[in-house]
Amino acid sequence: MTVSVASAILCWYDAHARSLPWRIGPAARRAGVRPDPYRVWLSEIMLQQTTVATVKAYFERFTARWPTVEALASAPRDDVLAEWAGLGYYARARNLHACAQAIVRDHGGSFPRTEAELRTLPGVGLYTAAAIASIVFDEAATVVDGNIERVLARLHAVELPLPGAKKHLYALAAAETPQRRPGDYAQAVMDIGATICTPRNPSCDLCPIAAPCRARAEGIAATLPRKTPKKAKPTRHGICYLARRADGAILLTIRPDTGLLGGMAELPGTDWTEDTAPPPAPPLAAGWRAMGHVRHTFTHFHLILAVMRADLPSGTCAERGRWTSAAAMGEAALPTLMRKALRCGLGPEKLI
Ligand code: ADE
Repeated sequence: MTVSVASAILCWYDAHARSLPWRIGPAARRAGVRPDPYRVWLSEIMLQQTTVATVKAYFERFTARWPTVEALASAPRDDVLAEWAGLGYYARARNLHACAQAIVRDHGGSFPRTEAELRTLPGVGLYTAAAIASIVFDEAATVVDGNIERVLARLHAVELPLPGAKKHLYALAAAETPQRRPGDYAQAVMDIGATICTPRNPSCDLCPIAAPCRARAEGIAATLPRKTPKKAKPTRHGICYLARRADGAILLTIRPDTGLLGGMAELPGTDWTEDTAPPPAPPLAAGWRAMGHVRHTFTHFHLILAVMRADLPSGTCAERGRWTSAAAMGEAALPTLMRKALRCGLGPEKLI
């Protein structure tokens, strides 16, 4: 970015930076306060695929429970998954825990200070490494997320559609990242992308780089970035089984460690198959009743899950899974899909 554009962005940030729980604002930064790499790393992992509004509450709970990377590294992984439940993209939580352990084991508890070294950590990709290196360690790394891509596509009127345009936008970002205050600059462009240069109806009148913005001059800002149409998602079908004992316990199983929802708890159920419903596979013989369906969308498919329920005597045993008491349900690593299924299966009864 030409010096004047970067300066305009930094000047705007000095007056309008969002106050965020993991952020050291521009005034404090100037006074010499440095961001805590643990908090910045945690926030950046949480913010992948998730909005600032949703992340805030999770961030506060995580940092209250595990204030340091050492504390997180020594937590049982199931506790971390349970605290993450509801945020989605659960590979992030598994990698988060693995990364905390790698930092303690291989780096003496201190985060590496360069983008290149940060990239060697579990779950830390190009974007996250660049964000931490610039925000925490003042490296002029090239930080590009979805918000920044949008700002750059508009500033330079890039009409090539995403994702094909990614390399080009990265090169534009690299050429324009300032040596001075690169971390504040990256956060400023993120804030502009989130609050002014929004996907629909951008508020160009408030934008500090409206003057050099080519898309605005051409009247096409709101249409950029263009996107190659995505393939339609297929729909899969499955059945899950809510086995509830008279003592209130519910039968839960744990998904395999790898793959979708890896390591998370679930109601036992069938495989999820495309187009047609799978054959029933109840975890135990009982009088199963159909309670309805829940719908959920994952990155690559829609899911329609039939919810079956059986009410069983207190002593009932099951060959697989663990009976989980009503009190312990709140601590279980239940993804949003399974919380929906429980609500569907329990109806107006108290969930947990
Ligand atoms: N989105 C992702 N990372 C962010 C950050 N550091 N500040 C603001 N928005 C963000």
